[in-house]
Amino acid sequence: MRTIVCDLTRAQLSASGLAHDAAICREELAAGADCTGCFGCWVRTPGACVIRDDLGDLGVLLARTDELAVVSRMTFGWVSPLVKRALDRSIGYLHPDFRVADGQLHHRMRYAGHDLALSLRLYGPSTGSERACARAVAAANALNLGARLTGVRFPADEKDLAAENDAPPVAAAEPPVPGRGLPRRVALVNASPRRSRSATARLLGDLAEALPVYARMAGVDAPELVCATARDAGLPAGCDAVVLGYPLYVDALPSGLVDLLVRARGELAPGTRVYALANMGFYEAEQVSPSFSVIEGFCAEAGLCWSGGVAVGAGGMVLPVARTPRMGMMRRGVSEAVDQLVTALLAGADAGAIEARPPVPRFAYKLAAEAQWRRLAREHGADLDARPADAG
Ligand SMILES: Cc1cc2nc3c(=O)[nH]c(=O)nc-3n(C[C@H](O)[C@H](O)[C@H](O)COP(=O)(O)O)c2cc1C
Repeated sequence: MRTIVCDLTRAQLSASGLAHDAAICREELAAGADCTGCFGCWVRTPGACVIRDDLGDLGVLLARTDELAVVSRMTFGWVSPLVKRALDRSIGYLHPDFRVADGQLHHRMRYAGHDLALSLRLYGPSTGSERACARAVAAANALNLGARLTGVRFPADEKDLAAENDAPPVAAAEPPVPGRGLPRRVALVNASPRRSRSATARLLGDLAEALPVYARMAGVDAPELVCATARDAGLPAGCDAVVLGYPLYVDALPSGLVDLLVRARGELAPGTRVYALANMGFYEAEQVSPSFSVIEGFCAEAGLCWSGGVAVGAGGMVLPVARTPRMGMMRRGVSEAVDQLVTALLAGADAGAIEARPPVPRFAYKLAAEAQWRRLAREHGADLDARPADAG
């Protein structure tokens, strides 16, 4: 079966000439909800999302699909907010337990043995860097989904989707000159759908506590901190630096954050520094890298200055160890990474890509995480290994 997930209307899809047996189009995506990050599709109703809108059975649809074609407007090097909503809502296709693939933690296949081919068409103007970013995220998605990546194409526009050749890339804008001097007003954006209950909230809170301490030590005024979320109408006005806190979702930004960035284009002064504070379920912090490239793509388009950030692997540990000493064994790696980010922020400098050192070895993290999924499934009377697509 060939399934298309696209941000085109049904009428646009049928005019495109792309053959398919099933399609999720703009109509269903716009009426659907963003993933809330509850993991109900793993521990309450395994394989299906607990939100029963038209996207609730995307995991099941993937299990019945042989060829998945994703069609989206190119957005900062990856997909549009609506298509990202669908990708985020489809993780019930995977099993929460881990496997090691290409030397990294990934999820086990709920539908072991299922052969899935993945292709993408990202239409609209795109630069060479955005295309490189898209290829990297697509490869990461294919690895995580246990799928074969059969192509990433770049059509000129939504009327040209069946074209055999890619449109020529557009030239990248000149990199902006970073804003001068120390920041006076900094936006801290919590883009986790789990909001105050999230590891992101905890990490941003830690940064907010460390910042005035470092400012005092450096003999400079601490900047004013303004909190924001991805649900806000835009980014807070008048900020001369922004920290985007987010969980990695399907190797990229959560859909709500992509949506915020689309809305915030043009809101910030050129050269405003943008930093990231990301955490993720997998162990290896380097898996965050494609999502940093997406933010870099946003900055390039909005005339802002991508200034690097922190990647926290084994993010499932952030909340359980939050009450242990900040520089104790269980928190030191993350605390030191946050402090490096604070120093760069205060100095109005580049942070580079800072990878926080996880506190425990990978096998221990894997065992603890898997034990927790089993406990949660038991509490909900759920069968973690369920395969709803086999049921009919
Ligand atoms: C829809 C969804 C997709 C996810 N995709 C990834 C992923 O691609 N890689 C990863 O390491 N973790 C992934 N995770 C796990 C989250 O990044 C992890 O649970 C994180 O610690 C949540 O942070 P928060 O509490 O700040 O929201 C995903 C979680 C959800 C709900």
